[in-house]
Amino acid sequence: MKGLVLSGGEGTRLRPITFTQAKQLIPVANKPILFYGLEALSRARIKDVGIVVGNTHKEIEDTVGKGQDFSLNITYIHQEKPLGLAHAILVSQVFLSGEDFLMYLGDNILKEELSPFKERFEREKADALLLLVEIENPSQFGVAEIKGDRIVKLVEKPKVPPSNLALAGVYLFSPKIMEAAKRIKPSWREELEITDAINELLKGGGKVIFKRASGWWKDTGKLDDLLEANRLVLDGLQADIKGRLENSKVEGRVKIEENAEIINSTILGPVIIGRGCRIKNSYIGPYTSIQERTLIDKVELENSIVLQESEIIRIKGRVSSSLVGRGVKIIHKDNHPKGLSFMVGEKSTIEFRD
Ligand code: DAU
Repeated sequence: MKGLVLSGGEGTRLRPITFTQAKQLIPVANKPILFYGLEALSRARIKDVGIVVGNTHKEIEDTVGKGQDFSLNITYIHQEKPLGLAHAILVSQVFLSGEDFLMYLGDNILKEELSPFKERFEREKADALLLLVEIENPSQFGVAEIKGDRIVKLVEKPKVPPSNLALAGVYLFSPKIMEAAKRIKPSWREELEITDAINELLKGGGKVIFKRASGWWKDTGKLDDLLEANRLVLDGLQADIKGRLENSKVEGRVKIEENAEIINSTILGPVIIGRGCRIKNSYIGPYTSIQERTLIDKVELENSIVLQESEIIRIKGRVSSSLVGRGVKIIHKDNHPKGLSFMVGEKSTIEFRD
């Protein structure tokens, strides 16, 4: 069985971060989202993995390489435009070479292991095995209509969902999906939808079964979901302090990497602080991930993700629920004249809440 990880797309809902960075490489608990999927495939002993890439291919190839770090053998598959998940399968035809495959959406993170999923697919000789998650309002996902243990129909992002069962980004397919994908037409959003390809498979009498997810699952395409994924992963963090503490208090599960310095500060876990960070005169509260070489001074920060080499200095209110990009500076200066001064890129969001 092969693996197919979808890492193209444009990440429009995470701009401005995704103007300069692939959304699948945004870190959750200081590790790129994409790595969680690759590690899961490796644990399920799927060795040959194709990664579908688009505009951000260089960054992804530079970060993941040939896959040695994951014990995987990686092939990059270029998709010229993000024309849909079924289109991503079509462009992967040569790589897939008529084998069964596990398709994993590169911006998804899930708790459960993939092996039982793979074993069930092989045992039941299905044409598709889908992972379903119960969600209160699944309108922003593909939604399944089921009867007993079979899928009857799938609908992509329905206004009125036929059930509360959303399609999570893990699918197992027999080679029959390729023919089904060739028969479908683009949807209203101009994409070849995977849901339409699976419906086509059903029409042709294909056996489409499902499994309900047993742990948490997150599609990290939007800020709130990204922060929630960060919280879910940090909930499983092991305390480990390698950096230097000076006159500071650390409570709960806190990981501080090498060469990080925590001075006159309080850290309340779960929190992860990357290599070479300097945290001074600050409070870092639960569910915060700070990437390497970031400087934080006189700040209260919680429930946030801060990327590498940023500086957050002397902020008055508590900073929370934030995503701060690479090399960003947020500084309160004492200079006169008083006032606010910004140099903010396209699609940035700044909120003041008193
Ligand atoms: O997250 C689960 C949902 O993922 C499912 O419930 C939906 O049925 C499915 O269509 C998909 O919906 P999204 O609209 O959230 O998909 P998104 O555009 O975010 O793409 C998912 C991943 O696939 C992401 O890593 C980008 C990549 N991708 C996407 C497209 C459209 C590609 O590699 N190529 C593409 O053409």
